[in-house]
Amino acid sequence: MCGIVGIVGTTNISDRLFRCIKNLEYRGYDSCGIAILSEEGIEVRKNVGAVDEVNKTEHLTEPQGHVGIAHTRWATHGGVTQTNSHPHLSGDGAFAVIHNGIISNYRQLREELQAKGHLFASQTDTEVIPHLLEASYQQEQDVEQALLKTIARLEGTYAFAFVTTHDPTKVFCARKESPLVLGIGSDSMFLASDINSFIEYTRDIVILNDYEYALITSDSYLIKDVKTGERIPRTVQTITWSPEAAQKGGFPTFMLKEIHEQPNSIHTVLSIEQAQIHQLAAMIHEHQRTYLVGVGTTYYVALVAQYYFASLAKTFLPALSSDEFEYAAEVDGNTLFVCNSQSGETYDTLKALRFAKQRGAASAAIVNVIGSSISREVNLAIMQSSGPEICVLSTKAAVAQMTILLRVALELGKIKGVLSEQQYEEAQLQLKDLPEAIQWVLDQRMSVIRKIATTHCHIKNWLFLGRGIYMAAAMEAALKMKEVTYQHAEGMPGGFMKHGTISLIDKEMNTLVLVPPQREKDLYEATMSNVEEVKARGGFIVGFHYGEPDSRFNEEVIFRDVPSMLAPLLELVAGQLFAYYSAVTLGRNIDKPRSLAKSVTVA
Ligand code: F6R
Repeated sequence: MCGIVGIVGTTNISDRLFRCIKNLEYRGYDSCGIAILSEEGIEVRKNVGAVDEVNKTEHLTEPQGHVGIAHTRWATHGGVTQTNSHPHLSGDGAFAVIHNGIISNYRQLREELQAKGHLFASQTDTEVIPHLLEASYQQEQDVEQALLKTIARLEGTYAFAFVTTHDPTKVFCARKESPLVLGIGSDSMFLASDINSFIEYTRDIVILNDYEYALITSDSYLIKDVKTGERIPRTVQTITWSPEAAQKGGFPTFMLKEIHEQPNSIHTVLSIEQAQIHQLAAMIHEHQRTYLVGVGTTYYVALVAQYYFASLAKTFLPALSSDEFEYAAEVDGNTLFVCNSQSGETYDTLKALRFAKQRGAASAAIVNVIGSSISREVNLAIMQSSGPEICVLSTKAAVAQMTILLRVALELGKIKGVLSEQQYEEAQLQLKDLPEAIQWVLDQRMSVIRKIATTHCHIKNWLFLGRGIYMAAAMEAALKMKEVTYQHAEGMPGGFMKHGTISLIDKEMNTLVLVPPQREKDLYEATMSNVEEVKARGGFIVGFHYGEPDSRFNEEVIFRDVPSMLAPLLELVAGQLFAYYSAVTLGRNIDKPRSLAKSVTVA
């Protein structure tokens, strides 16, 4: 899981290469490097650290040239060292390679190449690629043929790109199960793991599919099929996001910007054509069993949706974590697999999808990134169009997905006759208020949330409690807290707490409770009984709730009344802000917390 970039221009490209790789830092930031091709050969500069850090020592924009590649790494095979950073050179220095993915048969290839006299510098799986290219070129004396021979030996997943002194006007690349997109500029061509990389230079893109390879020159691109070697014509798509959308727009961090974009991204998903929402609801209705699948935050999206389907359509659709799907699910031709993915590239979700498809399941997905693998492999893809989400933590994409699934649940409720026409229409009207209700939280409750977070963020252990759909929201809020503050936060059903975890309650373990509106009488009372249980043991409680001020809470955030189906989403947004301001006070790296990457494309 890394970011890769390649550029061929008519003038020096080093500044553009630097900016393009910096835009991909969210894919990994353990180390980075560039390779520039010039008349003197290939110059590689690389080191450990994020792009700006490495630039200070390696002066990444110093080498001049028209052709180059760059990489930002999230280590998988081989530690975080300068030698293991990409690009990797062939033994003769004629090929420099960058790679995203995992070459699963690299040990065998490495031994084979070593036996033939190849010397390896790094511990990475990637380094077999430049050595294979060198060996194949010696036999074929043709770069494209060498590339095809190399691809034929590789097992695993990859998007890789290389430059070579044997053909110095081009960048070559190939893809299998890791994303790769070409950018068609007016005086240069780009390739990258993601459109965000080069969106400030061009919005015209061409997406590469699995088992395809491509070569770019400064004014042309060619895509070919790995199996047949035949040229593949592909239509250029134009991205409608503005480059500014990927910039911070005056906010100190992308996380805060993206939290504030939620009214807008929800408004966008409320405008998704009803026909698509109906199509997914009808698919669910037609299938004997449907699973809702995601991993990390998208699992919690599925869990929130599970409760929406239960309450609004009286239908139990199990939520499963993508990585557990194949062990737990019963899959056959009567199954529908529905997943959510911001990136559309998450390995665990893609693997679960392919597992389901192989066993005859139909599939659908809610995805943000256009042209991503998941969006292309499902029978029905609903594009959420939330715009780029740059912060490694998912906020706006997740809440937008929850809103789409809420719409689908209402639709299914109508199809099944659980909701009358009038109830359905009322719910549609209520839904329209969601963007404004979330805006209200941002405008009216941010300062109190900030104050509470700032005061209590030093507490290292947190229990996030909720019941029913509030449990799912509590789990997601706890994940936000963990990822960005590095403090322990455990999301849990309120009723579950007394079966063990309650023994942890003391002065060093705070509790945050997501409380439903009081009109949800049973759920409210059950949740408040958990509050009493914590209180009785001297626990400190932050309450997110909808009632009058309540002295049972040590700190409280009180929300304005909204329809019940919207209430958990408002509390979740408050949870995002709580995690954010806790992390700001703790001085954490908000947009790129340690050890995380935006898109986890490895097992
Ligand atoms: C957490 C987070 C991750 C992702 C998960 C799935 O804030 O962002 O847990 O939700 O890795 O990623 P996508 O949505 O790209 O499939």
